[in-house]
Amino acid sequence: MRFLSLLSFIAVLVTPALTQDQIPPGVAFLYNANITVGLSVDVGAIPAGNVTVIPVIGGALIGPQISGKILAIGADWGLSTPQGAYFSDMRAQIRTMDNANIYVQMSGLMQRNDGLIYVRATFQTGHKDYWWLNYAFAFGTMRASGTGFMVEMWRLTY
Ligand SMILES: *[C@@H]1O[C@H](CO)[C@@H](O)[C@H](O)[C@H]1NC(C)=O
Ligand SMILES: *[C@@H]1O[C@H](CO)[C@@H](O)[C@H](O)[C@H]1NC(C)=O
Repeated sequence: MRFLSLLSFIAVLVTPALTQDQIPPGVAFLYNANITVGLSVDVGAIPAGNVTVIPVIGGALIGPQISGKILAIGADWGLSTPQGAYFSDMRAQIRTMDNANIYVQMSGLMQRNDGLIYVRATFQTGHKDYWWLNYAFAFGTMRASGTGFMVEMWRLTY
């Protein structure tokens, strides 16, 4: 009994107090990218809507820690639903200026009819200089531009 109350006393000491206000996490800029796309392929109507594949044929990205080009590998497997939503599901390959190969996967739901999509992104690479990208919690915006998409990418910092 006495032991238990000592334990709960310690628990009160180590448990952070719940408050209404939290300090928001920080964000760090990752890159701006231009993605050039090719002629889309119409997969047709599936039970969830219409799938259109928009091939990635190139591009460039620039940021404080990562810059390079986007290879002609990948596409956006977009789903248009009967409710008028557009789900973007893009996979692409980045080749940095120092020759690291990074796989990026982006997904998101179109926010507005002007084409703005909030995207979340994950990265995979074995390159030691970009190892941190495997753990990055990344997000940003993607919007249609003349030749493809413009992407602005950020990551969460704590
Ligand atoms: C993307 O394209 C815009 C408009 O042409 C240009 O100003 C910008 O520098 C480009 N960014 C990259 C990363 O290529
Ligand atoms: C799917 O495509 C068909 C044929 O082009 C079209 O009639 C239909 O409205 C489209 N549906 C959606 C949800 O975009």
